[in-house]
Order: sequence, then structure tokens, then C-alpha cells
Amino acid sequence: MNPLALTLNEQLNENNPHLLDMMSDLGKNMYYPKGILTQSAEAKATDYNATIGMATNRDGMMYADTLYDMFNHLSPEEVFAYAPPQGLEALRDLWLKKVLADNPDLQEEQITRPIVTNALTHGLSLVGDMFVNAGDTVLLPAHTWGNYNLVYGVRHQADIQKYPIFDENGHYTTQGLVDTLASIEQDKVILVLNYPNNPTGYTPTVDEVHTIVEAVDTLGKRGVNVVTVVDDAYYGLFYEDVYTQSIFTALTNLNNPHVLPIRLDGATKEFFAWGFRVGFVTFGLSNQASKDIVEAKMKGLIRSNNSNGSTPSHSAVRYVLENPEQFNKDIQANVDTLEARYQVTKEWVYREDFQALWQPYDFNSGYFMALRVKDVNAETLRKHLIEHYSIGIVALNDTDIRIAFSCIEKDDIPHVFESIAKGIKDLQN
Ligand SMILES: Cc1ncc(COP(=O)(O)O)c(C=O)c1O
Repeated sequence: MNPLALTLNEQLNENNPHLLDMMSDLGKNMYYPKGILTQSAEAKATDYNATIGMATNRDGMMYADTLYDMFNHLSPEEVFAYAPPQGLEALRDLWLKKVLADNPDLQEEQITRPIVTNALTHGLSLVGDMFVNAGDTVLLPAHTWGNYNLVYGVRHQADIQKYPIFDENGHYTTQGLVDTLASIEQDKVILVLNYPNNPTGYTPTVDEVHTIVEAVDTLGKRGVNVVTVVDDAYYGLFYEDVYTQSIFTALTNLNNPHVLPIRLDGATKEFFAWGFRVGFVTFGLSNQASKDIVEAKMKGLIRSNNSNGSTPSHSAVRYVLENPEQFNKDIQANVDTLEARYQVTKEWVYREDFQALWQPYDFNSGYFMALRVKDVNAETLRKHLIEHYSIGIVALNDTDIRIAFSCIEKDDIPHVFESIAKGIKDLQN
């Protein structure tokens, strides 16, 4: 093992041995090298800085004016320079401020400074690198985003186990998770929590969050290391009376040394900036040495993978966080649009005459809602809807479909659900 990794692990063993136990072999082997980036950081104030792989002249960076024309609110430095592996420092501070403003129960000392990732998928994958060994147990909700299987099941060879989040009537329940956690016999599990949930659009209430967090706490108190991965991709898109802080906050406030809360969030959905690829990973850790070690290892993982993120994207997100007045109004207008669509969707899917055709899963947030369709195959229905009604939906399995009301104009929503109803009737006959 590299001596730098050995030192980090020795320090971690002294400061937080459970955190060391939670790490994968790759997580344990990882370190941040004293390579070009460290040397370049040390040379930043020199007159002749010949360390970094960029091209400069007396005025600063060399660049093409035509490319710079695209980014006229930003300085050349904010567009063309490399970002450090952990992301632009100013952006990290601004996101930290946002996290604390959104989560009043969280204190700055309780969490790490967010590290910028190439959006959430990258963050989820980095978490896999750091914490998931082949054969480790990853607990996913039965209604889940398919990419977790690829990230943790295929890439990291984890043993994926699923827990139900809905009862047979389509109502959200915490019981499946509580029972699953109570039956854990392994000494470590990775628990993925994703609310608002993709594909069902459900976010738990305050009481439900309390139940989930209590079950995680109990498991940790049994001595099981619980790496909780909170995927907050759709954070903030709440349309009912739900728990509006991140469940990461409630988990962090457990102060249970066997529970490691990790939050993935970002600009992708929250800022309607899917292609920017700006996300963040934040750890619920309060010990400064643990924070520094986790950051060093994360930087090593990023450096050894995509090296660093895209500076124009980091700078653009920084710009809107620094100039929030109009930006917040723009975002709120989009959220209002989604909420209006949610209200119409709710009105239509619960109509009495449709209940012989489908059963909605509870939903109250996010982009999506899901239906269990009756007496038709979901994939057959999906193809039928494309062919005969020019409507695209997602078949989740044999019985369930996902409808993204985020992509249907409010006035078109009745037509879409009436057509789905007709399509089901066509196939039932
Ligand atoms: C639950 C969930 N997590 C993560 C992502 C990926 O986000 P990103 O585009 O930021 O990688 C998505 C995207 O659809 C998602 O639905």
C-alpha cells in the first residue's frame, strides 16, 4: 500500500475506526498524491510558474475569443482554467451555504464541505469506489432508479437486495425497510435512500422519516456499519406536506458512529441544468481529521478517474448562486409549473372510472408518478401507446409504468391519461 494511504488509514484508525471498516479495498488504498497538482498549488504565487499543463502569456491564459464569446459573464480564468479535483472552492462554499439554508437542523461543523462531482451519477460511483467491495450488501428500494444496479451491482459487484416501499394498495410504507434492517446479519450494509423517489415521485412525511432514521439508528447500535447513501437528485420539488429537509440531516443528527450519512445532490434537476454535470458529495462527519481524510481520498478517486470537472459549468453554477435574485425567480417559476402539472395529474389518476384500469402509487413530489396497470403487460402497453396514441411512457417491470409529468404540458395531461386508459382497455379486450 502507498505510504500516503497507510498514513491516512492510520490516522483514520485513531480518529474514526468504524469509518475505516466501512471502506472498500479501493477506498482503503486511495490517497491524494503529492504530484503535479500539489506542486502546482505550492507554485501558484511564483513569478514564473512552469508547473501546470495549461498555456499562458503575460495577460493570463491563452484562449480563442470565439469560444469566450459564449460565456460573457465570466472571466477567462473562470472558463478556461482547470478546476481542482474537488471543484472550485468558491462553488463549494456557496453550495455549503445552500445546504445549511435548506437544512436548518444541520450545523456546519456536522458536515464536510461539499466536493463537486461530475453530477450525481459520478458521485454515486465515487461512493461505490470508496465503500463498496464485491459481495457487499446494497439495499435498494424495490421501486428504484435502474442505474444503481449498473453502478453498484455491475461495476462494484455488490449483492443487491431490494426492500418494498409500497404496500399492495400502492400506499407508501416504511415497514419493508424497517423489517429488512431488523433482519440484517452482515456487519456492513450500504443503504440507498432516494426521495423524491424515481420512479414513483414519493417523499416521506416527518413521521415516516423519523421511523426510517430510528430503524437505521437501531441497526447501527447493534454494531452494524451502515453507509447511508442519500440520493437527493430531485430535492426541493415538494408539492405536499412532507419532510422538506434532506433525510441526510436526520441521519447526521443521529451522531451514531456506525452510521455514515452521505448526500449526493446537485444542479442537475434542482437548477434544471441536466447537461451541466455539476453535483456534490457531502459527508455527515464532524471530526476534522475524518473530514480531511475523506476529502483526500475523494480527491484521489476523482483525480484517478476524470481528473477534474468542467470549469465553465462550475463557474456558471457559482454565478447563479452569487446572483440569486433573478435566478431564484426563474427556478421558482419552473417549480410552480411542475407543481401545477402535479395537481392536474393527481386529479386525473385518482378518477373513479380509472380505478378498474390502474392503481396509482402514492406520489407527492418530483418529476414522476407510477401506476400499476391491471390485466395488461406494462411493456405491451408501452409499445401499444407509442404505436396507436403517440405517447411515450416507461415500463418499469411487468406491471408498473412511469409517467414523467415533468415533460407533459398541464393542458395535455388529461389527454395523456385518457389515452393510457383507452390503451389499457384496447389490450384488456
Ligand atoms: C434518482 C436519480 N439519481 C441520480 C440521477 C442522475 O443524475 P445526474 O444526471 O446528475 O448524474 C438521476 C437521473 O435521472 C436520478 O433519477
